[in-house]
Amino acid sequence: GAIHYYDFIVQETNFTRLCSTKSILTVNGTLPGPTITVNRGDTAFISVHNQGYNGLTIHWHGVKQPRNPWSDGPENITQCPIQPGTNFTYEVIFSSEEGTLWWHAHSDWTRATVYGAIVILPAAGTTYPFATPDAHETVILGSWFKGDVMEIIEEALSTGGDPNISDAFTINGQPGDLYSCSNETTYRWMVDYGKTYLLRVINAVMNEEQFFAIANHNLTVVAQDAAYIKPITTSYIMITPGQTMDILVTANQPPSHYYMASHPFMDGTGVSHNNSTTTAIVQYNGNYSTPSTTPFPTLPLEADNTAADNFTKQIRALASKEHPIDVPLKIHSRIYMTIAINERICANSSCKGPNGNALSASLNNVSFVIPSVDVLQAYYRGNNGVYRTSFPNKPPNTYNYTGDVGNNTIYPNFGTRVRMIKYGEGVEIIFQGTNVIAPENHPMHLHGFSFYLVGTGSGNFNHTTSPKTYNLVDPPEVNTIAVPKNGWATIRFKADNPGVWFMHCHLERHSSWGMDTVLIVRNGKTKETKIRPPPAYMPPCSKS
Ligand code: C2O
Ligand code: CU
Repeated sequence: GAIHYYDFIVQETNFTRLCSTKSILTVNGTLPGPTITVNRGDTAFISVHNQGYNGLTIHWHGVKQPRNPWSDGPENITQCPIQPGTNFTYEVIFSSEEGTLWWHAHSDWTRATVYGAIVILPAAGTTYPFATPDAHETVILGSWFKGDVMEIIEEALSTGGDPNISDAFTINGQPGDLYSCSNETTYRWMVDYGKTYLLRVINAVMNEEQFFAIANHNLTVVAQDAAYIKPITTSYIMITPGQTMDILVTANQPPSHYYMASHPFMDGTGVSHNNSTTTAIVQYNGNYSTPSTTPFPTLPLEADNTAADNFTKQIRALASKEHPIDVPLKIHSRIYMTIAINERICANSSCKGPNGNALSASLNNVSFVIPSVDVLQAYYRGNNGVYRTSFPNKPPNTYNYTGDVGNNTIYPNFGTRVRMIKYGEGVEIIFQGTNVIAPENHPMHLHGFSFYLVGTGSGNFNHTTSPKTYNLVDPPEVNTIAVPKNGWATIRFKADNPGVWFMHCHLERHSSWGMDTVLIVRNGKTKETKIRPPPAYMPPCSKS
């Protein structure tokens, strides 16, 4: 494959949104940041120069980085942060991904403004599994906070309460004309009548799943998380934070202006959130008089679980000869994993969480503690004391592995506990959503892999009947899966990528509360199945 070089200058830049100006962290001064465009099989060297005030890292979301965890990016998991005034070059290796992914900062909440698209075109000399589109467009859904995002999460963690909700959703960095002072800058996508576009939609929103639609235009979804699916023609999509979808859109309506819009899918949990709607305009080129009213798409209601399910349950891998699937049929490691929002005893007994406690979150009742130096170095160099290998294979008995556990399980254990996995194993993880403090959907994301979603259901996982519903023929291959509220989801993958890989909920507040863990896939026996040696320079772990 070809080699590409990018320079990312991380810098504070003034932006005006919602009638006020503030300084935000950006890459190269733009929001969203620059798009990385490669062909499948290429490599990109991305030199990140940190000119901001705080250390940070960048993650290439959904890029498997075979044997190369050194460039994966999560702070204090695979590297220490790039300190202000220094730089680090990531080597991003594109292997089997094809379609749309994205990159984002992976330090505290900095991803709120530090994100951009990754476009992976078919390998040179190959084509799409559908008629080649006439053109491309990228739409990134994001969150805008009037306050400083780092202050928002720090204050939430120190008071134990829910972080402030965002003040707007955005499309390509713009709130859209339903918000004040945003009319002039609403994002406009210019189209030509008769052309078919490949629209790449990325959900970079911090804390909410989204419904998205375009007025009067069908959406034909052809890929999810940079893997092809059997085409689904629909009037709306549900996309969870972290996910990406490639959608064919034909400009076949009378030349005019049409809204595209997105708003949250909140599954009726009553969790406080930003319930606003963001808009952009699809504008046909040509001579016509500007319409007096612009058609608005019909989005499912926020609490419409059925609409969300009806869309997601249709998703099947393309599973063609050119794009085969490889689901492990033999499972060597099976992990039952409960996902919970929990409480934490409040240090000063005046916290803003439930019962005067602080909020926390856990996987198998372990609330993950991010260490102060990275797990990867400690593992690679055999340094003790950074993490323990005791992440449990199943939740403690009090959870009874159901979604309806009682309030006796509100307090998790805290620790940096990881799960070791042998190279080459077939791994199955069965996620079970719970209702300890609040039931919610959880977009679970795994670094270093894409995995097959073989089954999902509402209510409790049933050891006898649920596995009978598994799809082992054409399950979608994804990197993020929305585990349904109080429901379950089973994923499978082959542990063929040695390294240290973060797994977490992609709702930023849940991840901050500890809804995370690490899978360490050991080296195989041959040179080609071992972690590559570290690059000559890694950001040092102490500031001095
Ligand atoms: Cu897009 Cu660890 O995340
Ligand atoms: Cu979550």
